[in-house]
Amino acid sequence: MDLLDKFDPLIAERDRMGYRDPDPLNIVMDEVLSATEAMINGRKIILAGTNNYMGMTFDPDAISAAKEALDKFGTGTTGSRILNGTYQGHKALERELEDFYGMDHAMVFSTGYQANLGMISTLAGRGDYVIIDADSHASIYDACAMGNADILRFRHNSVEDLEKRLKRLPENAAKLVVLEGVYSMLGDRAPLAELIAVSKAAGAQVLVDEAHSMGFCGETGRGVAQELGVEDQVDFIVGTFSKSVGTVGGFCLSNHPKFDVLRFACRPYMFTASLPPSVVASAISSIRSLKNAHNKRAHLWANVERLHSGLKDLGFKLGTKSVESPIVAVCFDSQEELFGMCQLLLAEGVYVNVARPPATPMGIYLLRCSLGAGHSVEQVDQILAAFKAAQEKFSASETLRDAAGDKNAADRQSPDAAVATG
Ligand SMILES: Cc1ncc(COP(=O)(O)O)c(C=O)c1O
Repeated sequence: MDLLDKFDPLIAERDRMGYRDPDPLNIVMDEVLSATEAMINGRKIILAGTNNYMGMTFDPDAISAAKEALDKFGTGTTGSRILNGTYQGHKALERELEDFYGMDHAMVFSTGYQANLGMISTLAGRGDYVIIDADSHASIYDACAMGNADILRFRHNSVEDLEKRLKRLPENAAKLVVLEGVYSMLGDRAPLAELIAVSKAAGAQVLVDEAHSMGFCGETGRGVAQELGVEDQVDFIVGTFSKSVGTVGGFCLSNHPKFDVLRFACRPYMFTASLPPSVVASAISSIRSLKNAHNKRAHLWANVERLHSGLKDLGFKLGTKSVESPIVAVCFDSQEELFGMCQLLLAEGVYVNVARPPATPMGIYLLRCSLGAGHSVEQVDQILAAFKAAQEKFSASETLRDAAGDKNAADRQSPDAAVATG
């Protein structure tokens, strides 16, 4: 038995779909021209699915900070944060995060995935409970699988279900409720105030992942907890540098006085190399500028309103009734439709993400658009025009396929066809 035989159904599925040119799950950006454009297959494409919410990947200050750090400190640290991998930049980045969030302690991880993996699996041990939303990100699920706590799942965004489940747990047990400010697939927000209230009433500590809300939710871009005025109720904030900050890395913040001990207990922090100095320097620069990016935030929200209402007018089924985040998810019933539309959009000069089960909630097939402050109004209109053209072409090709299907079916039943093929 070959170890890879278990993947035969996946190989067969990918072969059956036959999407090779281009394969929506294997797009190559040959050149990236800006925060909103890239060359793909020899053509200039508008990027409308990159999580580059604040358009920071080409920020001139962040780039020059990274270049300077590269010259001064080299290309990498070649070590863990607890050995040779903590440079003055890593400490400065943690101070920058503490200042940005107005919290006492920050820990920087090498990715947001590792921040969730490390925090959740380390905070909750044997005999403790972790209670997560059913639509949680893979990093939260993987953290639960890695740790030794008992895991419970509540219905997505259901305050009632969370409360019911918390009430069944032993009063004295330590409990961690894990929430996200914005859910990454449909782009919907959590009713954080209510969810946190029932968690606190049950004596639970609360971790909120603001990966998809940092930068543009709240007065200074701290996320949904800031916008709703509930930050003082949150015990741990997790986030990433791979979206609004425009680079890579993850973090966790807390006011807990014992927080620092986690540096010596959290395996995804300890047993991996730290972020390269250039990444650290660009993250510091970006976070500093995000605080006062009020105009960018206003432009981003105006862009999203325009895309959301435009797609709704075109008759697409969207993940949220109104705008809740810069993620605008377009829902489809089948993988064929999803991949077909993605390819047609690329042909029209627009890239968006494809998302399908098991990554998506309720087995929905999604074209996931994420807009940024870097998109111009004209680009948003081009994205809308591309959706309209792709929709028309897809409907036309479906009609053709149906017609071909009908003809083939008729041929199969026709005595003439039987003679001709027999
Ligand atoms: C909610 C959430 N948390 C964490 C992560 C992981 O972030 P990173 O890309 O830094 O690993 C993601 C990434 O998409 C996410 O959506």
